[in-house]
This record gives sequence, C-alpha cells and structure tokens, in this order.
Amino acid sequence: MQTKTYFILFIMLSLAFTGLTSCGLDNDSVDTIQEPTKPVAANLKCDAQIEQTDYTFFKMTLDGRRVGDLMPMYDEASNKFFIYYLKDIWNDVTHQRHPWYAFTTDDFSSFENISSEIIGSSSQGCEQDYAIGTGSVIKKNNTYYGFYTGHNPNFPSGCVDKKEGIMLATSTNPNSRFTKNPSFSTIYAPKGLQFDEQDNFRDPYVFEDAGTFYMLISARANVGGIWKGVIASYKSTDLLSWNYNGILYHGDSNNYFMMETAQIFKLGATYYLVFSDIGSRRVNYRKSSSLAGPWVLPTGSEFLDGNNFYAAKVVSNGTKSYIMGFTSQQEGNVDSGNKIWGGNLVVHELIQNSNNDLELAMPSSFSTSTQIGVDIKVNRTTGTTEKISNEDESYQLISTSSNISNVIFEPIDAPRYIIATTVSYTDSSKDFGFFLGACDANDNVFSLRFVPSEHKIRLDKTKRSLLTTNTVSDNEVFMNLKPNTDYNVKIVIENSIVVIYVDDKVALSSRVYKASNTSWAIFADNSKATFKNIKVTKP
Ligand SMILES: *[C@@H]1O[C@H](CO)[C@@H](O)[C@H](O)[C@H]1NC(C)=O
Ligand SMILES: *[C@@H]1O[C@H](CO)[C@@H](O)[C@H](O)[C@H]1NC(C)=O
Ligand SMILES: *[C@@H]1O[C@H](CO)[C@@H](O)[C@H](O)[C@H]1NC(C)=O
Ligand SMILES: *[C@@H]1O[C@H](CO)[C@@H](O)[C@H](O)[C@H]1NC(C)=O
Ligand SMILES: *[C@@H]1O[C@H](CO)[C@@H](O)[C@H](O)[C@H]1NC(C)=O
Ligand SMILES: *[C@@H]1O[C@H](CO)[C@@H](O)[C@H](O)[C@H]1NC(C)=O
Repeated sequence: MQTKTYFILFIMLSLAFTGLTSCGLDNDSVDTIQEPTKPVAANLKCDAQIEQTDYTFFKMTLDGRRVGDLMPMYDEASNKFFIYYLKDIWNDVTHQRHPWYAFTTDDFSSFENISSEIIGSSSQGCEQDYAIGTGSVIKKNNTYYGFYTGHNPNFPSGCVDKKEGIMLATSTNPNSRFTKNPSFSTIYAPKGLQFDEQDNFRDPYVFEDAGTFYMLISARANVGGIWKGVIASYKSTDLLSWNYNGILYHGDSNNYFMMETAQIFKLGATYYLVFSDIGSRRVNYRKSSSLAGPWVLPTGSEFLDGNNFYAAKVVSNGTKSYIMGFTSQQEGNVDSGNKIWGGNLVVHELIQNSNNDLELAMPSSFSTSTQIGVDIKVNRTTGTTEKISNEDESYQLISTSSNISNVIFEPIDAPRYIIATTVSYTDSSKDFGFFLGACDANDNVFSLRFVPSEHKIRLDKTKRSLLTTNTVSDNEVFMNLKPNTDYNVKIVIENSIVVIYVDDKVALSSRVYKASNTSWAIFADNSKATFKNIKVTKP
C-alpha cells in the first residue's frame, strides 16, 4: 500500500476525520468568531462581516457547531424529511467524536433541530466506533436501521487492527437515540479480494431495489494492478446479514483516491450514482438504466455544484427531490483561510431534465419565504451604463475597452436575502456578472462572473488586475452560455454563504465572508450585458 502518499493525502484533503488535524485533539472550541482583517483604503464598504451562527436556510446547529456529511431520509410516517448529520465535535468534554445529530424539515427553508444525540461514539479506545462516521438510515417494518461507519483513530494499535468498519444501530423512532446492535457483525473489507483490508472502508448507503437491499461502501482496491477508490456493493434480504456483491463502480478510466458518500437513487426508469471525489472535493454523478451498469456520464456536466458542496445526498418524498451537501467553513472565518471540515447545510431542488441529466434549482420555499422587497440604492456608476427602465432596476452595461462598466449598489443590511435578475449579453470577450464585497470600483472585488469563452459561472476572489485566462477560480460550474439569451439569476446570500442559481439548472455554492452587508455591483468587462429587473427580497 502507498502508505506515504496516503498519509499525506489524508492530511491534505481535510477528510471527515482530519477534524483531528484541523481542530487538534484537545481543541474543542465552538466555532465563533474572529475579527477579520480590515481592508486597506476602503472607499466602499467591504469589511467581512463577523461570522454569525444564525442560519435559517443554510442550517448549522444552534449551539454554534458546524455540520458535516448529510444523511437525509424521508419519513412517510411523519411526512417529514429527517436530515441526520455528523456534528462537528471532536473529543469534547463528553469525548464525542463526530456523533450523529439530526434536523427535521418539511420544506428546507425552516428546520427543527432535534437536540438529543442520535448515535454517539464509544468511550472505549479499542472499540471500532471510538469515532463515528457517515452512513444512512432506512425504515423497514417499523424499525429505523442506522448503518454507520465505525472509525477508530487509534489504528494501528495492539487492540485496533482495522481503522474502519460498518456497524448498525436501530430505533423505533427516527428522532431519538438509536440503540447500537452488538449482535450485528461489523462489516470489514472482504478478505483476499485485493481490497485495502485495514482502512478506507466507510460511508454505507443502504437502499431497496426490487425486494433486495443493497449497501454501497466507499473503499479502495487493487483493480487490474492499479490501486483506486471503488464503490463496493453488498446484498441482503433482512438488513442484518450481508453478502459481498462485487465492485459496483471503480471510476472507469478515472482514478479517484476515494469516492466518498456514494448513493444510488432512481428517478423514473433511470438509476443515478452520486459520489463525492475526495481529491477535487466535487460531487460527480453517473446514469444507468440498470443497477448492474454500465454507469455512463451525463450528456452535460458530470458535476453537481462546485468545489464547496461536499458529501451530497439526495432525498425524495415522491413528488420532489432534493440534494444537500455541506459548504465548508474557512479557518479563522476569513476569505483567505483554508477550507476546513464542517460547514453549513446547503440544499438544492433536484430536477431531471428531458435527457435524464440532473439540474439544480432553488428550493421554491426560499422565494415564498422571502417576500419583503428591499430598496436598492445606487452608490455610483463607472463607464458606460444606461438605466433602461423607469419602472424597475434594469441596466445595460457596455465595456468595449479595458475599462469596466458597472453600477455599484449600497450594502443590503439583512442577514439573509435574495438578489434576482435576468441577465443577457450580446457579446463578451471577457466577462460580466456581479461584484461582491467591492472595496473599489474595478479591482479589489470578488467577481461572481459569467465567462462565455469558458462556458463557466465562476467565483474569483482574485483581484481583477491579477485575473488572467490562466487564473484558477475559487469555485466554478460549467454552463453552456449563448449570446442574446435571457438567463434567470438568483443569488441567495445568508451571512457568509452565497449560492447562485442560473436558470434553475445550475447552482454554485460558496463561502464568501465579504458578501454580506457590503458594497456590490453588476459589471461588464469587454462585454455588452443587460441586467433586467434587479430585485432584492428578504424574509
Ligand atoms: C457611496 O459609498 C460610500 C462609502 O460607503 C459613501 O461614503 C457614499 O456616501 C456613498 N454614496 C452614495 C451616493 O450613496
Ligand atoms: C414533498 O415536499 C414538497 C415540499 O418540499 C411538498 O410541496 C409536497 O407536497 C411534498 N409531497 C408529499 C407527497 O408530501
Ligand atoms: C433546538 O436546540 C435548542 C438549543 O440547542 C433547544 O433549546 C431547542 O429545544 C431545540 N429544538 C427542538 C425542536 O428540539
Ligand atoms: C418485514 O416483515 C415481513 C412480514 O413479517 C417479513 O417477511 C420481512 O422479512 C420483514 N423484513 C425485514 C427487513 O425485517
Ligand atoms: C478608462 O478609464 C480611465 C480611468 O478612469 C480613463 O482615464 C480612460 O479615459 C478610460 N478609457 C476609456 C477608453 O474609456
Ligand atoms: C450592516 O452594517 C451596518 C454598519 O455598516 C450595521 O449597523 C448593521 O447592523 C449591519 N447589518 C447586519 C445584518 O449585520
């Protein structure tokens, strides 16, 4: 085994369990809040807001903890969505390590927290579940089966020779503590079949198809001489005894180190396989007409959202489907900080289009719950701008030289709000879109931008003067962009979370500490773009 690479990757990729390295074993500080550094020479308002913990849409816990891997389940009995999650606790006073907690919701814009722990870690250093990892809950015959990862960070030691195994806890009530089932034999990687038999065996996802239960497990194996991340499959008829059922997917020509939190769900006649690539931190998906595969790429982009929407899972109540992941916090709660494990729940409505690709839309409850119009005030304009309507906030921006044209607006003084507009362009050799946290009119800004030459929606925190065609974005999604086409844009901002939806097809979720309550703008750079009927609403 490539122990070294593997160790370095383990540190670098801020995996679920590198909570360890980021927090340190004794550092159990609740995630509040440091003064960000003040920008120099701010003539507009661009100070990062001090990070808040009161999130309505992008839920975290009320006691200031972040959430990790989401494990949603729709509960028919109560007609509610239960969202189990790993709570960002690493060895607190009660020695919990990533225990499961839960929220419930009807509509994803308001949540109830369940204050009691659902599954806790063992206090015994030799037990497999000395720390708890991701899993899934399925209901059968009035019992809720919670399959979870037992992860022992003491591996390797005299009493711990496998770092991860799959365990079971059950309950008759989805919102109270599950009882661990000691008679369930922990599932470890199958022996003698070229798996990593000591580590990397986690994230069980259990589903039923045609009367049989299947469990997906994220693992690593030697496939034809190459070590790679694989998704192993197990089968059961009673949820208690499981038989190895082969490797369901090994990434085909890709070599993912780990395909984490894999899930299969079915919409219509199509099966979807979703997994989170630990390397790129992106959620990928594949389609198939059969559980047996082949798992093919979608027609459009294989990614759902960008690089800050991780460990995503889908849930459906039979009429609507949703996908949720977590958007990481950054060290020190500043835009320059490294991403660290744990963040806020971000949810999109999941829509199957006519070619069976998946699209991401803003949950409709967000617009029904943000009905109060906020007056928007222009602070100043730069370059060639024209207000094209007396009735509403509509502008045409023309930039033909190296000069940017923009309209800069006064900060929106609200913890959560939605900016909506319809954007189109006639030509664009560079970019257009929005500035967030604008310190000045054209350089020290964050650009949330349409880049037609790349067919991308990008977030760039890089100053405009340093942006080149080689700049690596902070976050991006693909979208086929065409001139003379209306794009419906919604930007949901809640404290430091910014999610942009374009045409309710594509979503990009990011952490932007400078976004809230700061100067913002619409802009065009070497482009001719129109922004129609700009509206801001809040709850
Ligand atoms: C524009 O913003 C600056 C900085 O906040 C402020 O001093 C100025 O009064 C604003 N101008 C208008 C017209 O709102
Ligand atoms: C599914 O959830 C949506 C809201 O998210 C709701 O409008 C719809 O009525 C629900 N369907 C069922 C069958 O409960
Ligand atoms: C949510 O959590 C808060 C504080 O942690 C607690 O006071 C409240 O009762 C909880 N709400 C529910 C519905 O459990
Ligand atoms: C559920 O109950 C039915 C009827 O008693 C039984 O046939 C089936 O095996 C049970 N399923 C599980 C998973 O226990
Ligand atoms: C670009 O902006 C600079 C500074 O505002 C100005 O001096 C120059 O005339 C502008 N150039 C064009 C072509 O508009
Ligand atoms: C927005 O900033 C102003 C000061 O510039 C402050 O008074 C206000 O409380 C802030 N609003 C929010 C929601 O943080």
